[in-house]
Amino acid sequence: MSEPTLDLAFCRRHFPALADDWALLENAGGTLVPSQVIERLDHYVRHCQVQPGAAYPASQEAAQRIDEGRRTLAALINADRDEIVVGPSTTGNVYVLAHALQPLLAAGDEIVVTNQDHEANNGAWRRLASTGVVVREWRMNPETDDLEIADLEPLLSERTKLVCFTHCSNIVGLIHDVKAIVHRIHQAGALACVDGVAFAPHRRVDVKALDVDFYLYSPYKVFGPHMGVLYGKPELLGLLANQSHYFLADDDFARRLCPGGLNYELTAAAAGIGAYLDDVHAHHFAGANAETAERLSQVFDLFAAHERALTRRIEDFLAADARVRLIGAGGRRERVGVLSFAVEGRDSRAVAEALQARKLGLAADDFYAARCIDALGLRAQGGVVRASLVHYNAPAEVDRLLDALEQVLGPAAG
Ligand SMILES: Cc1ncc(COP(=O)(O)O)c(C=O)c1O
Repeated sequence: MSEPTLDLAFCRRHFPALADDWALLENAGGTLVPSQVIERLDHYVRHCQVQPGAAYPASQEAAQRIDEGRRTLAALINADRDEIVVGPSTTGNVYVLAHALQPLLAAGDEIVVTNQDHEANNGAWRRLASTGVVVREWRMNPETDDLEIADLEPLLSERTKLVCFTHCSNIVGLIHDVKAIVHRIHQAGALACVDGVAFAPHRRVDVKALDVDFYLYSPYKVFGPHMGVLYGKPELLGLLANQSHYFLADDDFARRLCPGGLNYELTAAAAGIGAYLDDVHAHHFAGANAETAERLSQVFDLFAAHERALTRRIEDFLAADARVRLIGAGGRRERVGVLSFAVEGRDSRAVAEALQARKLGLAADDFYAARCIDALGLRAQGGVVRASLVHYNAPAEVDRLLDALEQVLGPAAG
């Protein structure tokens, strides 16, 4: 039987915001939510917005819906419910993780961060320098804009305790070989903390196969509500210092690492991400009786094939214009649907405004990857213009982007 291709109309029908006549190409900033998420949020706040876990019906339903949300958020990365912390954001989760790890680090211990990562997986780690920890920076290769394992090598020593890097950058978009990098980090006796925020919307994540120690993603970029998920290997979560009330049980990581508690209604709504992905699966693989992990792999393979074709068209267009600098063009690895570029002699914000005037929903910025933009030398130019696609984007939207770019860039000289 031949592999199905993505039924785009079927997927798009689930996202009410796509009825708009804007082409929404700012998905790396946050994705739209399908009706399955909206319905669960609506149901929760209408019918069970009470303190969960007590012995009356609304409270029991609330607890059951929150639990379903937690299971979904874990399953999305092939983790178990008890291996994740659901927090307010990835930035918040890294902040808490850094504080929880700090007592395990002695003065002179080393951690490695990158100049490609979003500030979420940067600032909280770098601030540990004030406790005597030595912070080393893994820098992008300026030829490829890529983080290369060869440049990590000299930074690893017997003092290295932790390496924090990104599965793929929200600016560069090239997919790192996380498994190989983590293997090398483990050989050096250190732990790996991987920011999966820009990767998780595009490909299947399997934290077990990657063997990561800590992994983070943000469901609001994976068709869900604003929140953050932190995965940790259970034996490591157990070593971390409690960041919340003193009386919480030693193995209650979900609460110990989420001071302030999780957002109930959004967690309950997150179960809708799984429901949507299951509906996509059922539509494309009728009659297949697959386990959750296999269903997710099949669905994300469909998404990836569709997104790859759209991404290549934009890559080819940008590569053909000598005035355009496509970030990561020199890299040899696959990119997710994140295309950042700058145009010679043009302020990126002005280019983005001209595209917005043509009803293209995208922007120019450093997108909080300030160190990356500085390393690329694009601060004065207003950062990069970024077009970012996910599976619900249509070929017609790419047509509109390329037409608009042709008008905005004008004919090339010569
Ligand atoms: C790659 C990457 N990491 C981390 C973050 C921060 O996520 P949050 O908004 O959940 O803190 C972002 C947000 O844009 C991002 O793109």
